[in-house]
Amino acid sequence: MALPEGFIAELKSRNSIADVIGSYVPIKKMGRNLKCKCPFHNETDASLVVYTDSQSFYCFGCGVAGDVISFVRKIENLNYIEAVHKLAERANLEVPEQDGRYAQAGQDRKRVIEINKVAARFFYDCLLSDEGKGARDYLKGRKLSAKTITRFGLGYAPDSWDRLTNFLLQKGYTENELTMAAVAVKGRQKGVYDQFRARIIFPIINVRGEVIGFGGRIMEGKGPKYLNSADTPAFKKSRNLFAMNIAKSSRQKRLILAEGYMDVIALHQADFDNAVATLGTALTSEQAYLISNYTEEVVISYDSDSPGQAAARRAASVFEKTPVQVRILEMIGAKDPDEYIVKYSAERYAILVENSAAAPEYFLGKIRGNYVLETPEGQVGYLREAAGYLRTITDAGVREIYAARLAQELSLEKDTVVAQVRGREQGKKAARPGQNTPSTQSGADRREDAGPITDQKARKAEEILIATLYRNPDYQSLYEKKLPPEYFVHQTNQKLYITMLEQMREGRLDISTVTDSGKLTEEEAARLIYMINSAKIPNVTQAEVLEYINVLQERKNKKSANEIKEMDKDDLQAYIESLSSKKTGGSNV
Ligand code: GTP
Ligand code: MN
Repeated sequence: MALPEGFIAELKSRNSIADVIGSYVPIKKMGRNLKCKCPFHNETDASLVVYTDSQSFYCFGCGVAGDVISFVRKIENLNYIEAVHKLAERANLEVPEQDGRYAQAGQDRKRVIEINKVAARFFYDCLLSDEGKGARDYLKGRKLSAKTITRFGLGYAPDSWDRLTNFLLQKGYTENELTMAAVAVKGRQKGVYDQFRARIIFPIINVRGEVIGFGGRIMEGKGPKYLNSADTPAFKKSRNLFAMNIAKSSRQKRLILAEGYMDVIALHQADFDNAVATLGTALTSEQAYLISNYTEEVVISYDSDSPGQAAARRAASVFEKTPVQVRILEMIGAKDPDEYIVKYSAERYAILVENSAAAPEYFLGKIRGNYVLETPEGQVGYLREAAGYLRTITDAGVREIYAARLAQELSLEKDTVVAQVRGREQGKKAARPGQNTPSTQSGADRREDAGPITDQKARKAEEILIATLYRNPDYQSLYEKKLPPEYFVHQTNQKLYITMLEQMREGRLDISTVTDSGKLTEEEAARLIYMINSAKIPNVTQAEVLEYINVLQERKNKKSANEIKEMDKDDLQAYIESLSSKKTGGSNV
């Protein structure tokens, strides 16, 4: 980390987390700590707890957590260094100048934003000038009003290799800066040339109103229909959504997620100011998370063709990790929302929005439509395919509810359908103990949640050990000597432990270094913050630490009767050998 440690400590001590959070949302005292309504999800209760001792926060509703820096990052949608600057300003502190990676990234980002702003203005002026006549006619043909064009700052990139490049070079920007901003591309021989030529330009604006990149649509001739800016220090396609800058202030209670720029623009023109789109890629979990900051419900309104439908299904599954409810809009007679509105009117589109079904209902309905339910074969086919779909839903509650419905619909026992939904997993060879792949969600779930009593005991020991280490960094050497990470039964806890030790070896451990280490997912980081703050997890002495380590060690050595039953011959042999070597090697810590 490029910023001196002392500075970050000073920054944090001058920006008490309670004051900072309190400046965004009303906050109430609750014993030692404080609580407030969580600004990151819609709620009526106050689920976000602010811990003064550890200067951190945790939301019991949506699981978001962090320290004062992460709070500002999230709520202002800033990167680390920007959040630091913001807090420094607040506390009247000077951010130390350094040549580190972060400072440079901050400078680069600023420069790119500046170049983009100048370029956006250039494209806009071109659209309104004589040479933009063709482009204006094109937009008119697509039924966009002058007001819409201005509102989105649409532009035209002239049919030239160097118009924008020369314009920007004259203003004093360097070739390197132009390629860094991705408005120009390095030539094969020398020099640089314009990235966008003879295209309609769609500026991409982030939630803070900065132009971070561009999309460009061809009007005629060969070449890709759309080009998007490459990722730059100011732009990551996977983290931004087109028109989120407008939609975030919409008064509609939900967002509409469309596929394309033109769909979003047509929707806004028709007064759906709550429409957004991804930037030419499939929806990412970062985008789903961004959406979850603004709304509880999203209506997916993708193309009506089969790639569009497949993409809608994938997008719906990406939202499963968020609290956002997903509905799917069904459109007949038009390819996409833009076409639909032009052809049938905004009023009729509004009805489609209202009639959109919850995602599982929608997809089950589609599956049902593929079968003739009056015949036994049709029923079997429907059951199989529907069960296959339900299996992909990670939320056990949702899965259960729709399994029950499916049973009712087919007049079957619920258990039969549930068994069918579980079907394939049970057929597979049971996962070997200790070998759960973290990617198979359901495998991990089964182990963590429905595990035997000993697992609960191990879980408790692990939580206490982790929380205690965090609260007592001077125990580090004890842990290093006595608690190898393999002792952890639960994979998330093991990962947290490994990450904590790494941070400690690098000289410091605090919430933002762990959460910004890039090694933990948001959920994992949130779990750690929950543990270190939870009053249910006591702080223990060194002697007790040794006892909890013993619990884990015994758990590791003794496999349950069930696990032994499931071992194959080789595993069993290895296990027996490990037991005898433990005995001779001494098993005590
Ligand atoms: P129009 O034809 O102008 O109505 O566009 P559309 O929004 O209906 O386009 P389409 O459904 O074909 O594509 C949806 C989105 O995918 C676009 O808005 C782009 O972001 C992206 N996209 C489409 N074509 C291309 C392409 O050739 N290259 C890239 N990188 N992205 C594309
Ligand atoms: Mn279209």
